[in-house]
Amino acid sequence: MKKYALVGAGSRAFHMFAEPIVKELRQHAALVGVYDTNLLRAERLSKDCGGIPVFRTFEEMLSRSGADRIIVASVDYTHDEYIIRSMEAGFDVISEKPMTTDHRKCKAVLEAERRTGRRVTVTFNARFISYTSRIKELLKQQAIGRILSVDMEWMLDTSHGADYFRRWHRYLDKSGGLLVHKSTHHFDLINWWLEEDPIEVYAFGDLRFYGPTREQRGERCLACAYKTSCEFYLDLEQDAFFDSYYRQAESADGYYRDGCVFAGDIDIYDTMSVNVRYSRGTLLTYSLNAHSPYEGWKLSINGSEGRIEARQFTSGLEKDVPESTLSLFNRKGEEITYRMAKNTGFHGGADEALRRMLFAGDRPDPLGHMADSRAGAMSLLIGDAANISIAGKRPVRLQELIGLDGERV
Ligand SMILES: NC(=O)c1ccc[n+]([C@@H]2O[C@H](COP(=O)([O-])OP(=O)(O)OC[C@H]3O[C@@H](n4cnc5c(N)ncnc54)[C@H](O)[C@@H]3O)[C@@H](O)[C@H]2O)c1
Repeated sequence: MKKYALVGAGSRAFHMFAEPIVKELRQHAALVGVYDTNLLRAERLSKDCGGIPVFRTFEEMLSRSGADRIIVASVDYTHDEYIIRSMEAGFDVISEKPMTTDHRKCKAVLEAERRTGRRVTVTFNARFISYTSRIKELLKQQAIGRILSVDMEWMLDTSHGADYFRRWHRYLDKSGGLLVHKSTHHFDLINWWLEEDPIEVYAFGDLRFYGPTREQRGERCLACAYKTSCEFYLDLEQDAFFDSYYRQAESADGYYRDGCVFAGDIDIYDTMSVNVRYSRGTLLTYSLNAHSPYEGWKLSINGSEGRIEARQFTSGLEKDVPESTLSLFNRKGEEITYRMAKNTGFHGGADEALRRMLFAGDRPDPLGHMADSRAGAMSLLIGDAANISIAGKRPVRLQELIGLDGERV
């Protein structure tokens, strides 16, 4: 049985790792420590997970917890530091996405991995949704021949999407913006499906819906003068988890989870459009908006022998449709429809499937679901290149960011 220590004690750390390890996976894995700069939150998580040891410093956790591996689930801009320090101390690392937030940090992680001989696994749970896996299978089977182009449209609704504008995600230097923080999932899916490397990126982005777009705004919902009229009002006290993990832990570091989505200092985009050219010539057209009336995505993949069309929705009218469909159009004028029951469970059952493979090790991996540092790098580098492209109004080659020779990064 492997022993794990966890850095970060927020929502993802608790729901994805701590609670499932101590409850569902205790025959396969043990949690032997937690560290978070917010001691109150770490203590809360410890209490909810059978009293696992709370460490005052990360160094102490590395040297005294007895862990075999470190799980990094802290805020995005701290991942690089914890990944590198863990590897330098001799540990393999499991990191939440994004592996890190920009190309400099990415390069440092890849160099540390090479130097130490340790290994980083990135938990791209979106690969584990059975629907996205079916697309991978079809492409592996060459169902539409050679892939020529991909269009992906991703919509976040005003519940999920707005949440990124309440707290640390809303600062480019903390999250890399949504093109890194969120799109790393989407770019990873596309990279995984295509088995091609991204080469060049051109992007546009703007803040058009959140940020200082309205006069009636406050600092945070809890103390806001517009709480009875604002549709974005979040009542932390009404949610037991938010109340205990965030509101009651505010005194430790002043991190409040209900910042105003219309704050003047938000510097990320809510409306984005990206073009990517891949190493075998595939062209990607991608868009993300964080203010949609419903949440989901639409995809089409054009190949030499046909076309795949896919769509999934997680809120709005189609949310409760019991099955997902995938259409394949071939050159004989036929449409083949694949029907799949929608998975239940968090993130469409993907979190559980990922945990089984990662911690119980009882699932084979013929399609290569488990992602390494290279996949972590490739997906975040598209987002980082897009950010640079938007700021500089120019195309950006990934090679110029990571500084390696040749077309391959
Ligand atoms: N794969 C997914 O579907 C998914 C979903 C949600 C979040 N995530 C990822 O999980 C991670 C955590 O996200 P979250 O939603 O739980 O955020 P959160 O804000 O709820 O939790 C982050 C935690 O990091 C702690 N922290 C801040 N600075 C720190 C530092 N310097 N050292 C140690 N700890 C520090 C905070 O106190 C907080 O407890 C992020 O990387 C996020 O991208 C992944």
